[in-house]
Amino acid sequence: MPVSADDLAARFPEGFRFGTVTSAPQVEGAVDLDGRGPSIWDTWAAEPGRIMDGSTPAQACDHVRRYAEDVALLRELGAPSYRFSVSWSRVRPTGRGAVSAAGLDFYDRLVDELLAAGIAPLTTLLHADLPQGLEDDGGWLNRDTVERFAEYAALVGARLGDRVAGWVPISEPAVMTLRGYGWGDHPPGRRLMFDSVGAVHHALLAHGRAAIALRAAGATSVGCANNHAPMWPASDDPADVGATKLFDALWNGAFLEPMLLGRYPRDLEALVEDVAEPGDLATIRQPLDFYGINYYSPLRVAATGPDDESLFRFVEVLGRPRTDNGWAIVPEALQEWLIMTRARYRAALPPFVITEAGAALAGTELADGTIDDSERIAYLTTHLEAVANAMAVGVDVRGFHVWSLLDCWEWNDGFLPRYGLVHVDHTSQDRRPKRSFGWYADLVAAHRERH
Ligand code: NOJ
Repeated sequence: MPVSADDLAARFPEGFRFGTVTSAPQVEGAVDLDGRGPSIWDTWAAEPGRIMDGSTPAQACDHVRRYAEDVALLRELGAPSYRFSVSWSRVRPTGRGAVSAAGLDFYDRLVDELLAAGIAPLTTLLHADLPQGLEDDGGWLNRDTVERFAEYAALVGARLGDRVAGWVPISEPAVMTLRGYGWGDHPPGRRLMFDSVGAVHHALLAHGRAAIALRAAGATSVGCANNHAPMWPASDDPADVGATKLFDALWNGAFLEPMLLGRYPRDLEALVEDVAEPGDLATIRQPLDFYGINYYSPLRVAATGPDDESLFRFVEVLGRPRTDNGWAIVPEALQEWLIMTRARYRAALPPFVITEAGAALAGTELADGTIDDSERIAYLTTHLEAVANAMAVGVDVRGFHVWSLLDCWEWNDGFLPRYGLVHVDHTSQDRRPKRSFGWYADLVAAHRERH
């Protein structure tokens, strides 16, 4: 029996904030408008063969031109929180130097439109799209990028800080640094393996510096949005267990521990020695008003052979249904991660917010044109239940944001995966709310009526 909106809503207390998410490179388009500079994702996507369907961020969901229509959808949905990101190269085309007044004006209008619709913006400063101008000088491997990010945070904070309460400096720094500089399947495509920890350290330092700059600009709620998941060993072979422990330190611990405890996991301390300067860890460990987690799927990790420098590889999570892009659907892993993390870091943890959760599930189009994405409704229901179960044993979770409001541009997979509550036709740019949109609206309304 599917759980009713009312029963599900009853599991979340007053003040719990439901929301949705997008990011600039995945929805905005208008990459040349008013002198916006290129980001590393524009450069990457322009290289033949990089993106599965040959698409680029140039159009995405044309959100810069259609933002009012998208905010109208958000108003109809009724969820009180909306997380979006600012494009650094729209605000400062090369990442340094001249500021684009027109670029800043866009976010000003977007924020006003959201507030007029009764929606609280949760603003991310960087969601993967580093200005290409900074990458040309070494990107996150160059400590100077930290200074540029602190300036950019101050700039955006000064412009929007009077109306935006909630901030995330960097979305998923693990993805940005480890995939971008470690194993190279994201831009800039460097394959430095463990030497990518320099990029990790600088991104963490940038997080700390931005938190300071945002607070100086009046921000009252600054958190993070880190991608986390339990790491399960592929077997009880000590080699697999060891590889899992190392990967867990790199993906989860290397971000969580510096931010919360001001230190790196023991296994990584020697690696960062060359890049960390005295005082850096104190800067990284800024007080956080919430700890944001982006959750999608657990990972199952195995050791590689001794002559493979990566030391770990991923194997299939067995016996689980999968999303369209092959990710195992395991809501209990979210529950497990929340409960375990609270147990381990209790004294240092602020309340959690689920800053992203969602699934690539296309659904089917019915004769009347409705997109029936009942699998997404099931996915979101079970993941919300997982959060509620963790809350029932004392974990403090304050919000849940669905990735994503729109079917948007999914990096190397182009437009193929469909994560949206709203279907987007990427030729006409027509928006069509799916069945999951109505379901989420009912849940939010039921929650509002109770409180
Ligand atoms: C998390 C990322 O923040 C987002 O950009 C991406 O689209 C989703 N994962 C799905 O892969």
